[in-house]
Parts: sequence; structure tokens; C-alpha cells
Amino acid sequence: MGVRFRGWGIAVPDRVVTNDELSQTLDTSDEWIFERTGIRERRIGGTTQSLGVLAGQRALDDAGCTADDVDFLLLATSSPDRICPSTAVLIANELGMSCPAMDINAACSGFMYGVRTAQGLLETGSQRILVVGAEHLSRWVDWSDRNMAVLLADGAGATVLEHDPDGTDLLSLVLGADGSAADLLTCQHEGYFQMNGKEVFRRAVRVVVESSQKALADADVSADEISLVIPHQANIRIIQAAVQRLGIGMERAVVVLDRYGNTSSASIPLAFDDARQNGRVKAGEYALMTGFGAGMTWASGVIRWSK
Ligand code: UT7
Repeated sequence: MGVRFRGWGIAVPDRVVTNDELSQTLDTSDEWIFERTGIRERRIGGTTQSLGVLAGQRALDDAGCTADDVDFLLLATSSPDRICPSTAVLIANELGMSCPAMDINAACSGFMYGVRTAQGLLETGSQRILVVGAEHLSRWVDWSDRNMAVLLADGAGATVLEHDPDGTDLLSLVLGADGSAADLLTCQHEGYFQMNGKEVFRRAVRVVVESSQKALADADVSADEISLVIPHQANIRIIQAAVQRLGIGMERAVVVLDRYGNTSSASIPLAFDDARQNGRVKAGEYALMTGFGAGMTWASGVIRWSK
């Protein structure tokens, strides 16, 4: 039994916030932010619901299906608009869906956790699932804290996953979590995101490399055969360190964080769709998706897109 990625869609707010703009109110600079992170600008605005609806509708249109064709909606987010109910039901309602819907919080690995959950549902009777990664992180940023304000941003990405008894686009998927690291990157109720950046950086490279190596082995695909790496977009230096250790050239990595910053659950679908729009995703070629985030959580998978 298999899983096919049938369509993709993304959404970002119109409002662009440049490093220079942040430098007007924070003790930082375009030079520091770009050198240390690779980020030049980010999009700020909307809500998790509004961005998720837009990305979700675009994924449905791209897949050539309607709201009625979907029998489960999964929303990966670490910035739900309300504690209860889930933002997933709000998105499903606005999209005109009456299927089950729920949120998944696995931080920046959330989209891949959503894909894994969808895979399980597809293997047990569902036909088509909308997986959305959407974030309104700017709501949970202390805009006077330069440590977080320069990194986090808003956005959404979505995909339609379909059951196919004859083949699969998803060749492997390795997930992990280590709750002993929960305080390294956290946002308390009514609080703001706080992070031990250095320690997150160190661990991120390790878990991305280890889980990617396992995902490659599980798929029986070598690093040389990977045409494209779609990494979580947190820091260009993490991406560089990880692909180098994996023996994959940086030219094969998709980087959109210069334009979008760190959009957590949305960053992998945002990066994938950007690569697709730019003609970099070729049917039949292998791609490695890999992410890590608060938890810590991590997720790596090998796909071969058939569309
Ligand atoms: O998706 C979630 C996962 N999160 C991440 O992946 C984040 C992982 N960590 C990182 O990306 C990096 O650790 C950061 C970008 C957060 C920080 O980069 P760094 O190279 O580790 O810098 P640092 O924390 O060691 O700070 C170096 C200096 C410090 O000053 P001193 O002590 O050397 O005088 C900081 O106070 O840079 C200072 N600094 C800043 N300066 C200008 C910290 N933030 C800023 C800033 N602008 N925004």
C-alpha cells in the first residue's frame, strides 16, 4: 500500500519585514542576522487559520480535488489560534469540509509528523488527506528580544496525500523525540518563545544527520542518489553542516529561509513548493526531507515524487 503526494500549496503574509527594519528597534544588524542565520527578510501577519486555509485551498486546487474528496484534515502547528478547539477544525470549516480534523504539535518537525499520521490513516481506510503546516509564530514573539525576533516568521504549506495500492512516493520516514530537551526551546502559556540557540544548533545537526542516514538506509537509497534535500529552514549554517556530514553538495539543498525566515511546521512544504515552482523537483528523482524542532523532535524521510 502506498502514499502519493497529489498536490501542494503555500501561503505567506504580504507584509515583508527586512533585517534593516528589525535593526531600527533592536540592537542587531542585517550583517549579523544574515551571517549567523542566512535570513534576509521574513513575512509577518495573518493567523494560523487564514494562512492554513489559503495554503490548503491551493493544495486542493493543485491536486484537482474538492473539499468533499478529503476525508481527514491534519494541521501541524505550534502556534494554534486558540487552545481549544483545534485550529484544524476552523480551517476545515472554512474550506467547506465536514471530515475529521485535528492539530498536531511536533514543532518544526510537525509537517513530517503530519505526513506520518496521514500515512497511517491511508493504510487503514482513508482515501485522501489534507496535511497543512501553518504558523502564526509572530504572535508568540517578544519583539524586544533579539534572540527570537530575528528568526521566527509566519507562513503555511500544504499537501494532499492519496492512497495508492500500486505504489508509493514515500519510501521511508524516521521520526524521533527527546522530551528531556524540552526547555531548550519553549513557549509557556501566555509567554513568548525562548531558546538556548547554541545547544539547539549542536543537537539539531546531530539529529538531522543521524535520522537522515537512517531514512536513506531504510529507503535503500545512497546520499549520491539524492537530487534534492528539503531541510527545515532554521539556519543556513545548520543546513550546511548537516548536508556536508551527509556527503551531499550544498547545491542540492533547497534554501528559502533568506526570504521566509523560520516558519516551523510550514518550512518544509514552503521549501518543497518553492523548488517545485522553480523546476527543481523532477518526477522519479529522490528527495530527502529533514527537520528538527522544539521537543526536541526530528523527522527525516526519502520521497520519490511520481507526479
Ligand atoms: O526551528 C527551531 C530551531 N532553532 C534553531 O535552529 C536555532 C539554532 N541556533 C541558531 O540558529 C543560532 O545559535 C543563533 C542564530 C540563535 C545564534 O547564533 P550563534 O552563532 O550561536 O550566536 P551566539 O548565541 O553565540 O551569540 C553570539 C553573539 C553574542 O554576543 P557576545 O556574547 O559574543 O558578545 C550574542 O549576544 O551575538 C549576540 N547576539 C546578537 N547580536 C546581534 C545574539 N543575537 C543577536 C542578534 N543580533 N539578533
